[in-house]
Amino acid sequence: MSAQLSISHLAKSFEPGTPNEKIALNDFSLDAEKGDFITILGSNGAGKSTLFNAILGKFPPDRGRIVLDGEDITYQREHRRAIDIGCLYQNPLRGTAPSMTIEENLAMAYTRKASKSFFAVNRRDSAHFRELLATLGLGLENRMKIKMGLLSGGQRQAAALLMATIARPKLLLLDEHTAALDPATSVKVLETTKRIVAENGLTALMITHDMGMALGFGNRTIMMDSGRLVMDLRGQERIDMSPRGLVDLFSDRSGHELSDRTLLALR
Ligand SMILES: Nc1ncnc2c1ncn2[C@@H]1O[C@H](COP(=O)(O)OP(=O)(O)OP(=O)(O)O)[C@@H](O)[C@H]1O
Ligand SMILES: [Mg+2]
Repeated sequence: MSAQLSISHLAKSFEPGTPNEKIALNDFSLDAEKGDFITILGSNGAGKSTLFNAILGKFPPDRGRIVLDGEDITYQREHRRAIDIGCLYQNPLRGTAPSMTIEENLAMAYTRKASKSFFAVNRRDSAHFRELLATLGLGLENRMKIKMGLLSGGQRQAAALLMATIARPKLLLLDEHTAALDPATSVKVLETTKRIVAENGLTALMITHDMGMALGFGNRTIMMDSGRLVMDLRGQERIDMSPRGLVDLFSDRSGHELSDRTLLALR
């Protein structure tokens, strides 16, 4: 079976040839099968968000190739690949239109993929949005006409999750999407994430600094360091792994300790 996402020998330096040169991606390769849910760990500055930005087409890589569902997207324009890739960030403000209603936001995400006019959203679509909102268990299905900007961070992140997945993307990218939420809301949004990914058989990558979360969600865990892939954990080895064991493995593979922020999450 060919991989749903195949990244090979990806490289990206910022400010090359200057004293500030930063190698953010260094010969990075990763294959993900359809339905893989991969959690990504790594210290601050390891290149995790840069990896997502390369996949999203925010910049052309210096070297390497990105193939999504058999299509080479390495140099494809950003807005074109946005149709196939859903993305959520730490800040729930990103990716949603605060002055539009919840229903309009969902319609926008839905019609973008369905190659259907925004104005062609009908009552059946609307009923579909209502059903999807009801699955969040936040009562938002009765508040479809209120502006997105009025929702709390957690409510908006849950709605943003629906927006990112309503058109069944070929790939879902989650960049610490629950890091800014309070612990209880974070758990709720994570459980919703898990359910939506499973129900739709999505291929997903999730960046986190939380070791327990990295092992508790998905079927694979990778670690990045200085733009490289230093660990790829799956199967029984992953099932047997503890958060503390992960920290030790990271030090072994990278030759240094994880950043304070990640270690803090262990305490
Ligand atoms: N647009 C840019 N211009 C210059 N340097 C950049 C740019 N984007 C990222 N970098 C640098 O590339 C390196 C990797 O950054 P990146 O944001 O990918 O790290 P990260 O693993 O997501 O870290 P964090 O856990 O803090 O979010 C960092 O040194 C960062 O300063
Ligand atoms: Mg980041």
